[in-house]
Amino acid sequence: MSRPSASLAWLLAAWLLLVLALPAQAAGRERLSLDAGWLFHRGEVAMPAIKGHGMSYQNGKANNGWGAAAADFDDSAWRRLDLPHDWAVETPFDRDENVSQGYRTRGIAWYRRYLQLPTSDRGRHIELQFDAIATHSTVWVNGVLVNRNWSGYNGRNIDITPFVRYGDDVNTIAVRVDADAQEGWWYEGAGIYRHTWLVKRDALHIATDGLHANPVKQGARWSIPVEVTLQSSDKAAREGLVEVALVDPAGREVAKGSARARVAALESAIARVKLDVREPRLWSLAQPNVYRVQAVLRDGAREIDRTEVQTGFRSIRFDADRGFFLNDEPVKIQGVCIHQDHAGVGVAVPESIWEFRLRRLKEMGTNAIRFAHNAPAAEVLDMADRMGFLVMDENRHFNPSPDTLQQLTWQVRRDRNHPSVILWSIFNEEPLQSTESGYEMARRMVSEIRKLDATRPVTGAMHGGLTTDLNAADAIDVVGLNYQIWIYDDYHKKHPKRPLTSTEDTSAFMTRGEYASDKERQVFGSYDDEPSSWGNTHRQAWKAIAQRPFIAGGFVWTGIDYRGEPTPYQWPSASSFFGAMDLAGFAKGAFWIHQAQWVKDRPVVKLQPHWNWPGREGQPIHVMVTSNAQRVRVLLNGREVGEQAVDPYEMNHFQVPYAPGRIEAVALRDGREVARDVVETSGAPARLVLTPDRPALAGDGLDAVPVTVSAVDAQGRPVPLAQDKVGFALEGPGAIIGVGNGDPNSHEADKASERSLFNGLAQVIVQARREGHGRLKLRASAEGLQAAEVELAVNAASAPPQAPVAEPTTPLLSWRVSPPTAGRPDPNVVLAESDMNSWGWDEPPMRRGPEAEAFRLYRSSVNVRADRNDGRAQLTFGSIAGKAEVWVDGAKLGEKTDAAPAPFAVTLPRGVWRRQVTVLVQAAPGQPSGILGRVTLERGSP
Ligand code: GAL
Repeated sequence: MSRPSASLAWLLAAWLLLVLALPAQAAGRERLSLDAGWLFHRGEVAMPAIKGHGMSYQNGKANNGWGAAAADFDDSAWRRLDLPHDWAVETPFDRDENVSQGYRTRGIAWYRRYLQLPTSDRGRHIELQFDAIATHSTVWVNGVLVNRNWSGYNGRNIDITPFVRYGDDVNTIAVRVDADAQEGWWYEGAGIYRHTWLVKRDALHIATDGLHANPVKQGARWSIPVEVTLQSSDKAAREGLVEVALVDPAGREVAKGSARARVAALESAIARVKLDVREPRLWSLAQPNVYRVQAVLRDGAREIDRTEVQTGFRSIRFDADRGFFLNDEPVKIQGVCIHQDHAGVGVAVPESIWEFRLRRLKEMGTNAIRFAHNAPAAEVLDMADRMGFLVMDENRHFNPSPDTLQQLTWQVRRDRNHPSVILWSIFNEEPLQSTESGYEMARRMVSEIRKLDATRPVTGAMHGGLTTDLNAADAIDVVGLNYQIWIYDDYHKKHPKRPLTSTEDTSAFMTRGEYASDKERQVFGSYDDEPSSWGNTHRQAWKAIAQRPFIAGGFVWTGIDYRGEPTPYQWPSASSFFGAMDLAGFAKGAFWIHQAQWVKDRPVVKLQPHWNWPGREGQPIHVMVTSNAQRVRVLLNGREVGEQAVDPYEMNHFQVPYAPGRIEAVALRDGREVARDVVETSGAPARLVLTPDRPALAGDGLDAVPVTVSAVDAQGRPVPLAQDKVGFALEGPGAIIGVGNGDPNSHEADKASERSLFNGLAQVIVQARREGHGRLKLRASAEGLQAAEVELAVNAASAPPQAPVAEPTTPLLSWRVSPPTAGRPDPNVVLAESDMNSWGWDEPPMRRGPEAEAFRLYRSSVNVRADRNDGRAQLTFGSIAGKAEVWVDGAKLGEKTDAAPAPFAVTLPRGVWRRQVTVLVQAAPGQPSGILGRVTLERGSP
């Protein structure tokens, strides 16, 4: 039984605690998601031509955003959506578009968002963060251009403190995205496709990416030389105390230290703390122990900022003869290259779908990832740390000029704490690689990286140019070779001191579920006998790498298919054939080959192809068995048809005369069965099956689960060639965010509630709603088949704190103010267009006097949003002091007859979209006058 008095006391205590905690929290760091509530317009919004003196004059000023960049632009007809968003994946396939971008339409688009900041934010440092926008972007805040970014892969942290307004004023963020610009030869998506944040901190704060904590080992001792970069936007110098703590994987604090730093106004300073750590748990691939370094900034005793990074204790080394060492143990790099798009969602890939992709790569035996050819999302690197991958972290542009160098240093600062990151890559297959110029460019980029991180080697991916007297390879630490297996031995002989790795290899073609190549249908078989002319089969490439200890390892092109680059085909093929998995993450033949080559900790065996070959009875079928065991045996309908010693490179091949039924591959170690794969002949599809990757989702608006759709026959056997069109319906707190089936030739829509099976499989991705809880019921149906239904639990979960979405307002910001006159002036007097000086310039609040002359004119203009051009909208003045007349385009709309300061409003009649507003103010004798409150055009009540 509960005792009321005790619970009351408890409540009181909790309330007190909350109240006491509040001011501290408001002063600390707030990182708010800015993903919700954007307005989107696909297509250009033309800027008006700048003509005439008045316009040209204004155009030369800070807050000169015209058109959709302007604070009062009419976006009432725009589509409302939440980020991340890739508009290219929403467009239909178009043969006239670029094959490299997957025949999707990119073009230009605009995003706008309204934001209110409480007055308590005044004095804090307000930063707008875009994790990535494809491709060129321009950002305005309240009509002021605040950032230009010419890469679709790097984030921008924009200090918007000087431009924002507080309280009732609504801020406008406008983003123009130019995705006609391209940076790659693969699908890049279009739009604000990663997360967006609003970060509020004390004027004295820890800079974004300002915590550097990368453990180093000297002899047998570990330490972390922590550097905390402080920044101040305050008006006077301040001193801060930085406390740093190291937290182990179990959540225990295991080391701490502190340092002081003095930061001059608008400057930065570094606080340094060295943490000595005894016998840390090492980060390894099998046990990726992740530590956290926390930094707290105090002003006196008061905590004013805090941040943390994850890090890990591991040593890395590339040896010219023996390859790569992790914690002093040799590790062969079993890597893949991947791009960043997935079925259904384009490049706007939810974190949980990334987790799925990385988990699939783990299953394949992958231990390293090259994020080709650009910076991945920050959360993907966090995941690589936690899941135990080695990462080759690559920047997009090979160029040491200031703008691109800034992209590189942004990336190094962001990523230099990750234990997973073992290599910086500064270029891929650059035509200048063979030249002195290439050498000089690389040298500069390497030097810039060293300043920020001296612990990781720098590589670059060379696809030639290695034999010239001076080339880019001479400037890097680990020479990366793309393809060119034939050069491995020669280059090593000529440069015996240089560590080497394959940075890219293979490039062989395969279509999931197909077993014969067919030019007409633009498909490839799955037996790994279709290398590109510059590449090798999966087996050849790995053999060349595995057999050479001086090659640190390889990165297969690619782990997972991606849109664009459907080499060697073009239309109708729209996505790649290179992947060991298709675009949805379903395994192709190469997946099983690598699994057999790479997985060491468990026995694996896989038999290909499917066993549905009606009409081929008695004819030999090529059976490929991939296994990491010692021997494999094949049985058909219970009878042995062959047994072979496993060839770890070529895998095992049998010719089996076809008879329907059951074919099995048995993997043997020391004569004992250690694994078995069974494939059965199936009948016609009878029933659909839905298999979610996980049974439950977090109701945070982010978590998404891929659900596999397949068909089985009447006996429940998978039907490998089913191509049925499946429709989906979802009930409950979530949505279908994309569908796919891994067919590079499919032109079905990604954003849809239907998808055909491709060779037996399709994928539907469901995402839970924010603040969602309950159950999601997904139903799949297809003509002639029994429908399938599956339920997923949606568990209540907290989403990242959100920056509230403000409703659009139309502020009248910029005003001209006439000199005072003794007599009543004509409110419609025309001010010469070239006269920028006889009337002043101001913004509300505009207080004048007391002055001898009673009259002044205040003039501004406003864009009338369509949803406010209905004859009901209110032109609202927070406060006018003095008597006043409000005139719009020559017509008097209202008169304030009392001189005391008071709010005032007039109703705006329907009319043209741009209006001129003039307010004639008459001061009461001896009293101040003017427009004291903000002026906005508000929606009128119906
Ligand atoms: C490489 C290139 C990759 C991809 C691949 C296809 O030359 O680095 O981005 O185009 O070829 O084989």
